[in-house]
Amino acid sequence: MMRRWSYSGQAMSGPATRVMPMGDEAIAEAARLVLSGEPVAVPTETVYGLAADATNPQAVARIFAAKGRPAFNPLIVHVPDLPSAEKVGRFSRQARELALAHWPGPLTLVVPLAADSGIASIVTAGLPTIALRVPSHPTMQALLRACGKPLAAPSANASGLISPTRASHVLASLGGRIPLVIDGGATERGIESTIIAATDGTLRLLRRGPIDVDASAADRPTAVEAPGQLASHYAPRKPLRLDAVEAESDEFHIGFGPVEGDISLSESGDPVEAAARLFDLLHQADAAPQPRIAVAPVPGRGIAAAIRDRLKRAAAPR
Ligand code: TXA
Ligand code: MG
Repeated sequence: MMRRWSYSGQAMSGPATRVMPMGDEAIAEAARLVLSGEPVAVPTETVYGLAADATNPQAVARIFAAKGRPAFNPLIVHVPDLPSAEKVGRFSRQARELALAHWPGPLTLVVPLAADSGIASIVTAGLPTIALRVPSHPTMQALLRACGKPLAAPSANASGLISPTRASHVLASLGGRIPLVIDGGATERGIESTIIAATDGTLRLLRRGPIDVDASAADRPTAVEAPGQLASHYAPRKPLRLDAVEAESDEFHIGFGPVEGDISLSESGDPVEAAARLFDLLHQADAAPQPRIAVAPVPGRGIAAAIRDRLKRAAAPR
C-alpha cells in the first residue's frame, strides 16, 4: 500500500522528502505524484512552487495543508501556453496583448473564469475569476506537459515565511511534509510574478513583480491595488452561524464528522476532504431554499484551523 503523507499541519516525523535533480527522471516521478493527487515542489523562473492538479480539489487542499496556510487564498494556475490558458479563462483583447508580450514569463493575469474550466473551486476560493500564468522555466514547462493538467502552485514555503529560491529553502520549510522537491538550482528572478487583473475592461496592478509595468506605457495599468486587498473570497449571501451541532428549521445545515447536516463537508471528519469541498458546499447552501446557513464545528489544528478561519470570515456581518 502506498504510504500516505500526513497533512495535519503539525511538525512531522513522516518519511523524508525526496530531492531529485532536474531531469527526465524527476519529471516522470513528479508527474506520477501529481496525477495521484500529491503536491510536489518544482522550480519556476520566479520562485519554487508547490504544484498540484488544479482540477483535483483534494490535491489542492493538500497544498494548503502542507503550507499550514491560515486561510485559503486563491492560487495561481500554471498552464503551458496561451491556448491552454484560453480554455480556463476568458481573455479580453488587452489581456491577450499582455500575454503575447510576456508569456512565457513572470506575469500572472487575473481574468474571468471560463464556464466549463474544470478548475476546482478551492483553487479560486470560489471567485468568478482566475489567476493564470505561463512559466518559462523548462522544469515547470516539462511538468505541465507531462501531466497534461493545469497546475495550481503557490510559493513552496510554509505560511508566513519568505518565498524559496533554492531547493534547500523548500526543504528547510516543508521537509517531511511533501514527497518530492525537484532541484533546479537557484531561481533566475527570485521574486514572485507580477499580477495584473484584466477582469472588467481595465487593467489593475495587483502585485508588483519582475515585470516593470511603470517602464512600459503599453502595459501600464490604470489602477493599483494594495496587495492586502486582493484576497477577497467567495462569501455566501445568507447569514451563516458557526459551531452548529443542530440546525434550526430555517437553516441549511452543513455537517462535518459526527454532525450529519443536510450535506457534509466530510462524513469521516477528514479536514483535507472538508477543505476540498468547502467552497462548493457554501455555493450549494446559498442556492438552497432555507434563508440561513448553519455549519457544524470543525475541530482540529492545521488545515482544520484554516477552514475555521475561512468560515469565520464568511460569517462576519457585512
Ligand atoms: O511567481 C509566482 O507567481 C509564484 C510561482 C510559483 O509561480 N506563485 C505564486 O502564487 O506566487 P501564490 O498562490 O502565492 O500567489 C497568489 C496571489 C495572491 O496574492 C492572490 O491573492 C492572487 O495571487 N490571486 C490569485 N487568484 C486571484 C484572483 N482570482 N483574483 C485576485 N487575486 C488573485
Ligand atoms: Mg507566497
